[in-house]
Amino acid sequence: YKMANDEYDYFHKVVIAGDSGVGKTNLLSRYVKNEFSLESKSTIGVEFTTRNINFDGKILKCQIWDTAGNERFRGVPSAYYRNTAGALVVYDITKKVTFQHVVRWLKELRDYTHDNPIVIMLIGNKADLSHLRAVSTDEAKAFSEKEKLFFMETSALNTLNVETAFTTLLAHIY
Ligand code: GTP
Repeated sequence: YKMANDEYDYFHKVVIAGDSGVGKTNLLSRYVKNEFSLESKSTIGVEFTTRNINFDGKILKCQIWDTAGNERFRGVPSAYYRNTAGALVVYDITKKVTFQHVVRWLKELRDYTHDNPIVIMLIGNKADLSHLRAVSTDEAKAFSEKEKLFFMETSALNTLNVETAFTTLLAHIY
């Protein structure tokens, strides 16, 4: 994985999965650029961004892949998941159906990464919209324990837990 003209000790690929509109692109832009957009367009195809992180004096280069939640706009899953070390599986705490679909995203993820066990974090995003909450924290926590996932609620809008979610995932990969 080592590339020329780029100083780092480790390289890892991380993917973000989840239904359309749950906030995948905004979680990524919040984490990498500290930016948020209220009217972000659906992702078409695949985009990726990198961020370097320091762990114990070692530089970890993290390449984070984001794709469309909508199947019509997605590329080839086998290419998307290839060489993945970790994943964020995202749902929207105000939309129950996006939580119900997490099992499908987990299945796809596990089907395509079965030769290398990966670290997975379940993310309940849009935690700022607590007055519209449709998925309880307890329910999501119980599910993540059963499925052996890390779990966190985040808000790409107000930054809650965004940095912590990525850092925790990367710390477990590293
Ligand atoms: P696809 O590209 O279609 O798969 O969608 P996505 O999962 O990447 O969602 P995206 O980041 O484009 O966000 C969809 C909408 O939700 C946008 O209007 C965002 O502004 C909004 N949004 C994203 N994160 C949050 C959040 O934490 N809180 C609130 N209130 N809105 C959010």
